[in-house]
Amino acid sequence: MSVKIYDTAEVQDFLVTVSGFDKEGGDERAKQILHRLLSSVYQLIDDFDVTPEEFWGAVHLFNEIGSAKQGGLLAPGLGFDHYLDLRMDAEEAQAEVEGTTPRTIEGPLYVAGAPVSQGYTRMDDGSDMQSEVMWLTGQVRDTEGKPVAGAQVEIWHADAQGNYSFFDPSQPEYHLRCTIIADDEGRYCARSIIPSGYGVTEGSPTDQVLKLLGRHGQRPAHIHFFFSAPGYRHLTTQINLAGDPYTYDDFAYATRDELVVEGRRIEDTKDIATRDLDGPFTEVVFDVVLPATQDPELQQRHKRPRALENA
Ligand SMILES: [Fe+2]
Repeated sequence: MSVKIYDTAEVQDFLVTVSGFDKEGGDERAKQILHRLLSSVYQLIDDFDVTPEEFWGAVHLFNEIGSAKQGGLLAPGLGFDHYLDLRMDAEEAQAEVEGTTPRTIEGPLYVAGAPVSQGYTRMDDGSDMQSEVMWLTGQVRDTEGKPVAGAQVEIWHADAQGNYSFFDPSQPEYHLRCTIIADDEGRYCARSIIPSGYGVTEGSPTDQVLKLLGRHGQRPAHIHFFFSAPGYRHLTTQINLAGDPYTYDDFAYATRDELVVEGRRIEDTKDIATRDLDGPFTEVVFDVVLPATQDPELQQRHKRPRALENA
């Protein structure tokens, strides 16, 4: 079967009707966007001679993605999160904001309300004695190099199995999640464990889509951050640890060169003692530069549904 009906007046009129253009009420922007989206899908059905079997198979897959709550996982896999970042980058390039730490995707696994500490905290509960101790530290500065005293630093990462607390109910509440208020020098410091990378569950709906594209669903070991302070643009970012097989092959496209950090193994007994540790550890240093802004909206993270946000 190879018929082409998309350009006919009947189909074009039908798209206008389906999009509610002939109806009062509703939302004008939604109508415009739905009209564009539906037009593109109708056209591709025509162009690719999509069969009813293929169409209903896709509808079923959408339902599976929704039931598995994997919309927020498939989105970065299809590059949407990175694309939104690129758009924000381009906007700032136009405004000539330079020399700041790059943003990168938030991902779907942030949980609001982690306990607040001043300057330092421990993120792990000590139950994992096998993983390497991670000493995660850095300084928040402005574009002039001045420390941003009292900056709020939110950190979250996976455990050694690649799982996140809250989404993995076997972990304690807010395990490997924290909020640190940086000291007068803009410094923050957290003791934790080196996280593991992780992958999309084999056979899950997201995995099915990636397999159709001949792609894997693996992420390298990484650590998520939000940085904020009054007078500065909110920064959503993450670091990928160097040396992971997926550091430069992240299915979620979060890797940016400036955000690849090499951990430094420290075995010096004096360094171990000053941190009150029992043995060698890996220090991970992540200094950031925030751009100034007076726009209160840019000082906040953008709104999106998040676990326990506004709870
Ligand atoms: Fe993550």
